[in-house]
Amino acid sequence: TSAFPIISQEEVTTHRSLEHGIWVTFKGGVYDITKFVAMHPGGDKILLAAGGALEPFWALYAVHNQEHVLEMLSEYKVGEL
Ligand code: HEM
Repeated sequence: TSAFPIISQEEVTTHRSLEHGIWVTFKGGVYDITKFVAMHPGGDKILLAAGGALEPFWALYAVHNQEHVLEMLSEYKVGEL
């Protein structure tokens, strides 16, 4: 069992602006990255993934394929799909 609530893909999709929060998914996890967006080393590109999956973008930008990046992401987890 998980300590995190189950969140629908549909709900994730509604969180793609600073006003409503920026949520993304990765490997079944849901992350509220609103507070991270301004700190992202890759700048505003991060907003391309808003409301959807990180996988297609991280496949293109392999700089994310590092343990320290996943640790960072894990701090923003709010639920599971
Ligand atoms: C770089 C985190 C989403 C594009 C980085 C770095 C971190 C990071 C930690 C620096 C890595 C290093 O140099 O060791 C994240 C997190 C994301 C996210 C936590 C999602 C929650 C995205 C997305 C894109 C993207 C969706 C593209 C659409 C880039 C690019 C760089 C970068 C281009 C390289 C910047 C440079 O070195 O000039 N990201 N990223 N990132 N990210 Fe992201």
